Amino acid sequence: MKKQKRYLVTAALPYANGGIHLGHLAGAYLPADIYVRYRRQCGDDVLFICGSDEHGVPITLGARKEGIPPQQFVDKYHELMKKSFADFGISFDIYSRTSLPLHHQTAQDFFLNLYNKKIFIEETTQQYYDEQEQLFLADRYLQGTCPRCGFEKAYGDQCEQCGSSLSPRDLIRPISILSGKPPVVRETRHWYLPLQRFEAWLHQWILQEHAADWKPNVLGQCKSWLDSGLQPRAMTRDLDWGVPVPLEDAAGKVLYVWFDAPIGYISATKQLRPNDWELYWKDADTQLIHFIGKDNIVFHCIIFPVLLKAHGDFILPAQVPANEFLNLEGEKLSTSRNWAIWLHEYLHDLPDRKDELRYVLTALMPESSDSDFTWKEYQARINNELVAVLGNYVNRALVLCKKYCGLQVPAANVLTESDLKTLREVQALPMQMAAHIEKFRFRDALNTMMEIARVGNRYLAETEPWKEDDPQRVAAILNTALQIVGCLAVTAEPFLPETAARIRSMLNWHQPCSPQQVKLPLLPEAHRLNEPFLLFRQFEDEEVERQRKKLYARQNNPASAVKTMPTCSYEDFEKLQLRVGTVIAAQRVPKAEKLLCLTVDLGSEKRTVVAGIAHQFEPDQVVGRQVCVVANLAPRTIRGIESQGMILTAEGPDGQLSLVQPGEPVPPGAFIR
Ligand code: MF3
Ligand code: ZN
Repeated sequence: MKKQKRYLVTAALPYANGGIHLGHLAGAYLPADIYVRYRRQCGDDVLFICGSDEHGVPITLGARKEGIPPQQFVDKYHELMKKSFADFGISFDIYSRTSLPLHHQTAQDFFLNLYNKKIFIEETTQQYYDEQEQLFLADRYLQGTCPRCGFEKAYGDQCEQCGSSLSPRDLIRPISILSGKPPVVRETRHWYLPLQRFEAWLHQWILQEHAADWKPNVLGQCKSWLDSGLQPRAMTRDLDWGVPVPLEDAAGKVLYVWFDAPIGYISATKQLRPNDWELYWKDADTQLIHFIGKDNIVFHCIIFPVLLKAHGDFILPAQVPANEFLNLEGEKLSTSRNWAIWLHEYLHDLPDRKDELRYVLTALMPESSDSDFTWKEYQARINNELVAVLGNYVNRALVLCKKYCGLQVPAANVLTESDLKTLREVQALPMQMAAHIEKFRFRDALNTMMEIARVGNRYLAETEPWKEDDPQRVAAILNTALQIVGCLAVTAEPFLPETAARIRSMLNWHQPCSPQQVKLPLLPEAHRLNEPFLLFRQFEDEEVERQRKKLYARQNNPASAVKTMPTCSYEDFEKLQLRVGTVIAAQRVPKAEKLLCLTVDLGSEKRTVVAGIAHQFEPDQVVGRQVCVVANLAPRTIRGIESQGMILTAEGPDGQLSLVQPGEPVPPGAFIR
């Protein structure tokens, strides 16, 4: 028996400050899941690790904006992301989180280990501080005039106009992006990782030892970092949210988020396998593989390996198969502009189209350069490939078999040279597919799987069993056709797990089999089959339109942006007149996708109110409902209609609106106090 291989596969821990979108999936989680499913099929020992990254400045600021404590903030997004991944079927062995005590302990131990080895350089420096926000400002939270070209909106780390890389102290007339005020300079002490001391080693390890087996886009980025020279990087921060620095004289300081987050992979492994986690992190027979997006390359290929190397007990990543970015309808994804397709929304709208999304995202995977997701492309891939090629082939083979031979595998007594040639051709493809997966070429691998279905379709078109008179020949052809279906059940598994299971249920065939083990024939003669059914349905034009509309309607209407607001005095609050109204008529506002024009009964009078809810409510869904109205709002003309008030809605974390209404019906006009 061949020796079982051991793999520790990680997918980047997403920040717990939003949802999971298709860019995340195509970048890291889907390729990782395909890879892991393939490894499991091969019988390898594999752990698939992920969890939420719950520290860092953006999380602190997000919590502040929503006016809730950071723990409550990350709890909310951790649950949202964990649920989306589970609902979609990303097959993590654990989805952990970095706010757990076990993680804090693990990260602190790691820090102390390096501290005791005297790896860090302790240094006091002058840093910009925002007095209003009471925060030391990270480079990208500073803006000012570029000393090279005079551009007024250069960031503390880079000028977007002339491209020079800057440090915050270079900026002329700096201001804090957070408060809009000029920052002050304050002294602070931190522990720095002297990356420059590891340059020679990194050069050797990445650019020599991995020159042939890491992806070119990954090597390219590493080379450019190494070529421009590495600088010491602070591993601690002045913040009150994060893993506290485990030293006596470090009150108010936490570990840098990029120090603690990758250690999250280690803590999660400990949590999953308390007794033998070290096998996965310290045994040279384990292959450590990090799936990430391209913005994470420096952290996984340079900083984290330096930490592991400096510690000394750990293995280093064998592979870091980073992907580039997925764009959306021709534009860069932007969570701040809400230009994204959120996984939880997709699953809500299209709950029975998970494999379809896996298929399309794999076909468009940004493996070597950025790619573009469009709903048109999504439709075309489903209709022209999943329905017309894969679904069609499997269905034809099974329906023909049922019709001519009954629900069982017919005998293959008279195979011709062309049958044998087809079988040989198919036989070679699972191996090719496996080789692509092992080299992280998922698009090619998917194509190879689909080639099996194409060969099958061609074979049926050539042999035309429905025209054949000789029952022995019909049986032989359909036997061959069914073996190809069996081969698809095996090869579809990493990409389309539900589809593979459905093919297997039609074949009534449950024997485990890896792509390398495929040896045709897979299905014995006289094996009983189940009733055939269709695997995929067309995606209609109307559905494309609905999804595109939704995307454009939400643009610039951030899902979870709660603006920071000054406190409101009781006197100010008292000025508002809030009343209950009943919607008695509603119609769309022409040429305004989002607007409904409502007539609201306030008891003594009727009001016209223009509300931005049309992307979510049809007019007849709101007529008859009670709503809360801001009744003394100054009238405003919107698209030529005078709007005499405003209705209140509540916005869920995914941007779904719900109308605020009284718990019990009340007479229209009732005051809300
Ligand atoms: N939270 C980071 C991001 O979303 C990824 C962290 S990966 C880890 O870009 F290695 F640090 F965990
Ligand atoms: Zn400049």
